Amino acid sequence: MGKPCALAFFLLLFVNCALSWKKEEFRTCNQTPFCKRARSRNPGFCSLIATDISISDGDLVAKLTPKENIENQENKPLILTVSAYQDGVLRFKIDEDQSLSPRKKRFEVPDVIVPEFVNKKLWLQRLTEEKNENGMGSLSVVYLSDEYEGVIRHDPFELYVRESGRNGKRIMSLNSNGLFDFEQLREKKEENEDWEERFRSHTDTRPYGPQSISFDVSFYDADFVYGIPEHATSLALKPTKGPGVEDSEPYRLFNLDVFEYVHESPFGLYGSIPFMISHGKSRGSSGFFWLNAAEMQIDVLGKGWNDEYLMLPSDQKRIDTLWMSEAGVVDAFFFVGPGPKDVVQQYTSVTGTPALPQLFATAYHQCRWNYRDEEDVYNVDSKFDEHDIPYDVLWLDIEHTDGKKYFTWDRMLFPNPEEMQKKLAAKGRHMVTIVDPHIKRDESYYIHKEASQKGYYVRAGTGKDFDGWCWPGSSSYLDVVNPEIRSWWADKFSYGNYVGSTPSLYIWNDMNEPSVFNGPEVSMPRDALHYGDVEHRELHNAYGYYFHMATADGLLKRGEGKDRPFVLSRAFFPGSQRYGAVWTGDNTAEWEHLRVSVPMILTLGLTGISFSGADIGGFFGNPDTELLVRWYQLGAFYPFFRGHAHHDTKRREPWLFGERYTELMREAIHTRYMLLPYFYTLFREANETGTPIARPLWMEFPADEKTFGNDEAFMVGNSLLVQGIYTQGAKHTSVYLPGDELWYDLKTGTSYEGGTTHVLEVSEDSIPSFQRAGTIVPRKDRFRRSSTQMENDPYTLVIALNSSMAAEGELYVDDGKSFEFKQGGYIHRRFTFFNGKLTSSNMAPNTAGHNKFASDCTVERVILLGLSPKPNNAIIEPANHKVDIDLGPVLLRGGTTPSALTIRKPNVRISDDWTIKIL
Ligand code: NOJ
Repeated sequence: MGKPCALAFFLLLFVNCALSWKKEEFRTCNQTPFCKRARSRNPGFCSLIATDISISDGDLVAKLTPKENIENQENKPLILTVSAYQDGVLRFKIDEDQSLSPRKKRFEVPDVIVPEFVNKKLWLQRLTEEKNENGMGSLSVVYLSDEYEGVIRHDPFELYVRESGRNGKRIMSLNSNGLFDFEQLREKKEENEDWEERFRSHTDTRPYGPQSISFDVSFYDADFVYGIPEHATSLALKPTKGPGVEDSEPYRLFNLDVFEYVHESPFGLYGSIPFMISHGKSRGSSGFFWLNAAEMQIDVLGKGWNDEYLMLPSDQKRIDTLWMSEAGVVDAFFFVGPGPKDVVQQYTSVTGTPALPQLFATAYHQCRWNYRDEEDVYNVDSKFDEHDIPYDVLWLDIEHTDGKKYFTWDRMLFPNPEEMQKKLAAKGRHMVTIVDPHIKRDESYYIHKEASQKGYYVRAGTGKDFDGWCWPGSSSYLDVVNPEIRSWWADKFSYGNYVGSTPSLYIWNDMNEPSVFNGPEVSMPRDALHYGDVEHRELHNAYGYYFHMATADGLLKRGEGKDRPFVLSRAFFPGSQRYGAVWTGDNTAEWEHLRVSVPMILTLGLTGISFSGADIGGFFGNPDTELLVRWYQLGAFYPFFRGHAHHDTKRREPWLFGERYTELMREAIHTRYMLLPYFYTLFREANETGTPIARPLWMEFPADEKTFGNDEAFMVGNSLLVQGIYTQGAKHTSVYLPGDELWYDLKTGTSYEGGTTHVLEVSEDSIPSFQRAGTIVPRKDRFRRSSTQMENDPYTLVIALNSSMAAEGELYVDDGKSFEFKQGGYIHRRFTFFNGKLTSSNMAPNTAGHNKFASDCTVERVILLGLSPKPNNAIIEPANHKVDIDLGPVLLRGGTTPSALTIRKPNVRISDDWTIKIL
């Protein structure tokens, strides 16, 4: 599709979709005064100049002073602070001048930036002054790294990062288009000035008046921008403003419970991460993060959006964006990249890397609203066994409680919850129950009684406990922003307090945007009050994050700090990756929802949340069998793999559609179980570096332009490429395989050339998935009931050789449960194949404690793809024994012909150093 045509198509989609959901329940930008104001400004609007620039306490500090109206109290100078951090992170803050006693301290989000980041600060020593490119104005320059520096243009004010040196190319900039605006807190101009905002039947009293902030950010040498979840839209963000896109809303970041959300929409969903990544062929990637928890709206400005104004004399290509927030301060970060993985690493150095989940949590989860009673649970559990389908976790939704009072059980339906959990645990299985943040206002409910007595609820603007409507009816909401309340909440998860819970029970946090059925936009009024008299508007997007944090802390406390928590959350914010997994909420059983799940999950991964998935089958509606099978086949590669459905839908457990379909779903789930060692190794990589598990192709092939807009296929780690099938009755599909090397079909071992789009026949058996030549993937091929039961199983190594007859890969193993890995209790091996020799070497640092985790697991098969001519034997060192090389199938099940060179039973231990030399 050509560009104008593509644009028209997308526009049509945006407009069409907007008609099919309850649009009127939610505010548009035009109904949101701060957004409307910011969006209507023209380039060059900002008249601030940087003055009084100096170095103080290792930071650059300056005043941003209006050129005119200095007397006007609305235009007091702002304070800019710029700090440099290791690894190419430039942080800048802009706030009101505290020495001028502003009306109120504006909210800065605590508890997101990890303490290790603070220690990475580089203490700036000096400022260099320069003349502007045209010799007119002045610039102040500070060191950022040997390659990059931060620059402030004084008049008009602009901040940017460039490659070091006067003529260094720009990487990112702020206010280059002069759209910066900061509404300072003030007294009402006139007695009768109306600060209230009305939407539908709701009135926001806005006692502090307008306090929004907006500015433009430019990304240089960028072809596309990505990130800023959560939206059900493409991975590469389409322009929302500019020629040809007159009617689009900006991308909204406002955590909302959206009933039947539509795909292809910039509308904000359950979570918000104000972090954008740019990528381009010529330079690579850079990133921008604004730590702000108020409602945000972001425009991606299409080419030519400012043609009439032409601000920037620049020969560098760039993408301009406009960021608007209702409140808070500017606390923002530029990340220089230059590789996509560098940017994600820089971002997670600020907000933390993802927690390492327990092994069971990386396997298959079975959920439904609701499994009705214990009998239903036992039945579902045993059917999995009967049908030879592994699963690890059975979930209980809200109906398991006594009247939606969390931490309780409906004892008619679940008379023996402990015994039920123990029976599942005997098969190595776990259970998850739901715990939401709305507390039933029922005097007989101990949580409510304590919370109301202690004053632990969010208060309405009037000062009384806020009372809203949710599943239990009249409910109040815990003020989890307060650390004391979080600690109290965390204690509720102890075995003593949570009666009926056992060590194999974990938690699901839902509705934590927070969802309030009778509130404005199905959420909490913005003038509700939190701890420290912070208004809800200032921290709305972080509420769910704090609830998730408190729940994860609860599980941590319950296990005396030894058991890794598992908590799934619907709402999220930067840093949520430290507390657990996230899913994409209430999707629909439609092909387009299957398709959009991929960009949604990839976007979450790019923004730190690597452990995510979408409801398999679609939450609303009934998928036909084909769609359900395709969803299992794709979902088996999601980082978080869970089937879930609304209570109005027909039952859809994998054995309900006839043996042929049971077989197809079983194979899909088995594929995931087989690849668990590889997945778990990737979870550890994410935990160490932030690099996501599911990756856009361009993250692995950053110079290949053909990958930049591709969000139908994705990489799992650096070794596997997966292409979903998104249409009914598909007989063929096109798959672009990047790079110069071959790709091997995961099922058959057939090779395909890289750098080419292949038109492949597709059958119902599987979706196209490939292993990249040059990689080694560890698997466990024996089929068990749960991941726990695979613990001592032997490994298979699949070696896909590249054109130099070489390959490499990794395997990470630990106890799958505890935090011993933090003390070195793990095995981390590197496998390399080179010069006809496979070598296993230790990747773990050789420090004390490394023998704490032992494993007797061996390698039972080595599969060699791409080796010719066929050798006959191999010799294993140091054991010095010879083994045969025969032809074998790539997969033990699934009926593939024996076509792959296979070394059977080399029986080397995964914890040892060894080599296998091909003779
Ligand atoms: C909304 C959640 O998104 C869904 O997954 C859940 O089943 C229902 N709430 C009921 O708890």
